[in-house]
Amino acid sequence: MTSSGYKMNELKIGIILSTIRKGRRSQEIGNWLLKESSKYSRSHYEIIDLRDYDLPLYGKEDKLGVSKKFIEKTAEFDGFIFVLAEYNHSIPGVLKNAFDYLGKTMHNKAAAIVSYGAIGGARAAEHLRGILGQMDVACISTQIALSIFYDYDDNQNFKPLDLHDDNLKIIFKRVAEWAEALKPLR
Ligand SMILES: Cc1cc2nc3c(=O)[nH]c(=O)nc-3n(C[C@H](O)[C@H](O)[C@H](O)COP(=O)(O)O)c2cc1C
Repeated sequence: MTSSGYKMNELKIGIILSTIRKGRRSQEIGNWLLKESSKYSRSHYEIIDLRDYDLPLYGKEDKLGVSKKFIEKTAEFDGFIFVLAEYNHSIPGVLKNAFDYLGKTMHNKAAAIVSYGAIGGARAAEHLRGILGQMDVACISTQIALSIFYDYDDNQNFKPLDLHDDNLKIIFKRVAEWAEALKPLR
């Protein structure tokens, strides 16, 4: 057991928040996933918040060495769940910029998508699948598509519908299975 509570040989799955704006929904959705993971999974789950890494646009000078820290952090994980917002029918630019730093850090890892938006972030999710394919990340088919209308109450409190429960369990199970299966290749 390490100081962070992580047991050696346990799979590590990162919950990546795709947005950084003030008032973002990604944080609450990420926290929900973290809480649910402790009910349904024996893997170690941890939030990776792009807000903690003020990455310069890829190609610009990185005076503070933030990209090194970000790459080292990402390298610790066997798989990822992406908390994915839809911005202009695609993934948020801040996430795309982060990917451009990662390259082989991502190879042979597993992923799942929890998207959200007016139509569940479906268009952004399709773009993300293309990017993950290019990065040799195995992204499972099962996805949670949260609606910014139906999964929030009239006061904009996050109230995910029960219908997501089955897919949530599948996601935790399959990401771990795929992350484990790909271990010999990493
Ligand atoms: C720049 C921007 C572009 C957006 N474009 C879309 C879009 O194309 N489709 C969609 O369903 N929602 C879109 N939205 C609404 C987002 O789905 C909604 O604001 C969501 O909460 C954004 O994630 P965040 O709160 O984590 O930033 C957009 C929001 C922003 C800020």
